[in-house]
Amino acid sequence: MDRNEEQREYWNGPGGQRWVTHQDLLDRMVRPFGLAALAQLNLRPGERVLDVGCGCGETLIEIAQAVRPGGSVVGVDLSASMLERARQRGVKAELIVGDAAAQRFDRPFDAMFSRFGVMFFADAVAAFTRLHAALAPQGRIGFVCWREPAKNLWVSVPMAAVKSAVPELAPPPPASPTEPGPFAFADRSYMERVLREAGFVRADIVPFDTEIELSSTGLDDAVEFVLTATPISRLVADASESQRERAATALHGALAPRFQGARLALPAAAWLVLAHAH
Ligand SMILES: C[S@@+](CC[C@H](N)C(=O)[O-])C[C@H]1O[C@@H](n2cnc3c(N)ncnc32)[C@H](O)[C@@H]1O
Repeated sequence: MDRNEEQREYWNGPGGQRWVTHQDLLDRMVRPFGLAALAQLNLRPGERVLDVGCGCGETLIEIAQAVRPGGSVVGVDLSASMLERARQRGVKAELIVGDAAAQRFDRPFDAMFSRFGVMFFADAVAAFTRLHAALAPQGRIGFVCWREPAKNLWVSVPMAAVKSAVPELAPPPPASPTEPGPFAFADRSYMERVLREAGFVRADIVPFDTEIELSSTGLDDAVEFVLTATPISRLVADASESQRERAATALHGALAPRFQGARLALPAAAWLVLAHAH
């Protein structure tokens, strides 16, 4: 199966299901990152915008507000179920189910945006080259993507705990750190090269550091959240009952010391990226 096909299956299967089921929680979790990237993009009324990997559509709503009056938004995503959720939310946008890098658009965009939706392309340079070609001459792209796992303790701490307690669930290590996936653009110089080779200029890449709250209601809720709504859910998706129990016990042990009262919030680190077509 080619890598794009793998992504299509994942986002139309368990990945999309997780985002649809936990849409409120996940929106709350990533909202600050998206808002920071949107502020950097500085959309203006009347602009035509593409949201790449728009998922369940929260950012389509934010973009539609920013380009009013006169502007328009197109959302493209591999996941039919996530776009269906966006539709149910009544987003005022054209929605396209498909690979963002394989679309033909009827006219160019003034701006492109993505909240954690551009790290999954099998061939990143080819994909960004296609996106670049769909921008107007004065166009720009703004997105947010994760920095390395070691700086994202909200995922690396629980991941390490589960992998050491249930090593047989751990996937084989990625062939390369730039393999398609949430952390594909963690390496800034790699991302700069992708953007440059795709034709973008004046790439402005700045770190964005914050915390992600895993619970405000105690340890059991944190463990449940991690096991169902975060990338750790992928690890335990096919686990037996006893493996899941071992994972939960390990999570209790790893997370308990990090609580402040009933609240657990762990560091999160992303890049805010703004690059110009010309
Ligand atoms: C981490 S989710 C983020 C969803 C949304 N941007 C948000 O912030 O709520 C990544 C999204 O990228 C989409 N995606 C991955 N590869 C894609 C591609 N080649 N073309 C379009 N969408 C893609 C997935 O289907 C998924 O909806």
